Amino acid sequence: MTSIERVGVVGGGLMGSGIAEVNARAGKDVIVVESSPAAVEAARQRLESSLKRAESRGKIESADAVLAQVRVVDDLTALADRDIVIEAIVEDEQAKTDLFRRLDEIVTSPDAILASNTSSIPIMKLAVATKRPTHVLGVHFFNPVPVLKLVELVPSLMTDEATTERARAFVQDDLGKTAIDCQDRAGFVVNALLIPFILSAIRMFESGFASAEDIDHGLVLGAAHPQGPLALADLIGLDTVKAVAESLYEEFKEPLYAAPPLLARMVEAGLLGRKTGRGFYTYG
Ligand code: NAI
Repeated sequence: MTSIERVGVVGGGLMGSGIAEVNARAGKDVIVVESSPAAVEAARQRLESSLKRAESRGKIESADAVLAQVRVVDDLTALADRDIVIEAIVEDEQAKTDLFRRLDEIVTSPDAILASNTSSIPIMKLAVATKRPTHVLGVHFFNPVPVLKLVELVPSLMTDEATTERARAFVQDDLGKTAIDCQDRAGFVVNALLIPFILSAIRMFESGFASAEDIDHGLVLGAAHPQGPLALADLIGLDTVKAVAESLYEEFKEPLYAAPPLLARMVEAGLLGRKTGRGFYTYG
């Protein structure tokens, strides 16, 4: 199995910059592609401030040394020589299929893996946009990427086993993550279980059954969860919770995945949780 040394990341937002960081910290040669010069600058700053934080906490010796492993550019053709490209752009099916079509033309090695960090778009839709569906799979990281150990590996019906095994060796042996295998179904394992749980907590709160604080205390103190479901929803972002719920509902048509009205109203109001300062709780 040939090793993966040259890594491309498309999209340097919340997830892409985290994915770039863990790869650079693992000694990989990393190129991040963003969509404009301003976005290149924002991605570089995101990466730099996260690495400086890691340095000040003693997690890495030198932020500058890790940064030297990463180039951030706005030109997709820079990815021609990559062993793997991990796509982490906006969760938009058309944007992602267009990108996979272009990556298929640009990335030259026939062994190269084209991976997506999508949370909800079927991998098959991305695979069939390329002429190499055997080398396309989902590699789904968790936020914050430098902290959370899990990666869901999501082969489509067309992915060959060698590609999956090469991706597994890369995320486990090189990046130090733990991989679990999932079918190409909306939500994979974690979100398919977590989102209905959060939606149930929202319904419970919405019906007046219990307060947000009591629901969260119940799960923290009674089930040893690190945080309650409503605090977790605020952390993920209520717009993201709603979007993932909608894709699960679209796929399975099960009421347990249907977003409750309160969630829709809060999103319409811009009460998105921590990132806007208010969700189920208010943040300083
Ligand atoms: P984000 O909005 O923070 O970042 C997306 C980035 O992609 C932006 O910086 C944008 O400028 C860039 N971009 C958009 N179109 C592009 C293009 N054509 N070429 C290059 N760059 C482009 O989004 P986030 O949260 O990082 O999500 C990215 C992906 O990761 C989505 O597919 C999402 O579903 C998935 N994901 C998100 C998680 C989360 O907790 N936010 C967790 C796991 C997966």
